[in-house]
Amino acid sequence: MRVLGIETSCDETGVAVYDTERGLAADALHSQIAMHAEYGGVVPELASRDHTRRLLPLIGRVLDEAGLCRADLDAIAYTAGPGLVGALMVGASTAHGLARALDIPVLGVHHMEGHLLAPMLEASPPAFPFVALLVSGGHTQLVEVAGLGRYRLLGESVDDAAGEAFDKAAKMLGLDYPGGPAVARLAEDGDPARLRFPRPMTDRPGLDFSFSGLKTHTLTAIRRLEADGALDQAARADVARAFEEAVVDTLVIKCRRALDATGLKRLVVAGGVSANVRLRDRLAREADKRAATVYYPRGRFCTDNGAMIAYVGTQRLLAGERDTLGEMKAVPRWP
Ligand code: KG4
Ligand code: ZN
Repeated sequence: MRVLGIETSCDETGVAVYDTERGLAADALHSQIAMHAEYGGVVPELASRDHTRRLLPLIGRVLDEAGLCRADLDAIAYTAGPGLVGALMVGASTAHGLARALDIPVLGVHHMEGHLLAPMLEASPPAFPFVALLVSGGHTQLVEVAGLGRYRLLGESVDDAAGEAFDKAAKMLGLDYPGGPAVARLAEDGDPARLRFPRPMTDRPGLDFSFSGLKTHTLTAIRRLEADGALDQAARADVARAFEEAVVDTLVIKCRRALDATGLKRLVVAGGVSANVRLRDRLAREADKRAATVYYPRGRFCTDNGAMIAYVGTQRLLAGERDTLGEMKAVPRWP
């Protein structure tokens, strides 16, 4: 079976074909980051318009690269949510329109399930069961994964997501959108001993997260340095470092707890923040200590992409799931 995957939930237009015989046949991405950077964040209306402009040419390119034509497709999967409603509707209506024209099944899938199973596209995928840390701009969750569709939420953020916290800290530091990579770059020059931020919710048992307090902490630190006339480039790097250390440390502590609580030895880390190098280093050391293994998607599949949607769609289509013809789904908030 050859499945076209379409991702348009936020600011990346992602397209891929997953083939049950060949694996991932081709994938392509058009990122809108440069377009939104001017506004310091994603502008929903611009996102929808750009998806509309990019999606069909991108589908053509992916089919070319896979050496396929539209008639070779057996099904279509698209991100039905969560995300920006206008952006989701572009992917959903395109998927449904194409599916009707080609007379093939179509299925809307959950964006976070895409992130969750993205490491399955790698050469040595994790076996079930495993613990997953999902860290993106919209989510911070720990999930026990028993198998496809068999998920138990172990903990999640009660306020901001980790990626969102990175983005907000970046703004305070005058860095460009998206903030995560920018904060990480600045933090490299920072002195880890100069400032120490709290590790929220690690002083009590449990697997929930809270990152909004770190925002206040970051702002207070910046204001204090500013008042002292000491907010130079080195000081900004120290703030970035203290912030990154606090987020990473908190994530690592909770992962350790989740592995202990479940007795599992496999940890999947996915979503945009999983690209963070300091997080990866720390988790690698933790895993070494407890003979556990950490699995990541390859770099370009850490952030939003069509491949993860094609993969999840394939698994669910194989299980017999499909949308009712003519009933496209766009679910901005989908637990
Ligand atoms: O998964 P994703 O591409 O989109 C969502 O579904 O949210 O994640 C984007 C998030 C942004 O908040 C971005 O700042 C963050 O991931 N991010 C990072 C890094 N690369 C991306 N955060 C920290 N360090 C990074 N290297
Ligand atoms: Zn995402």
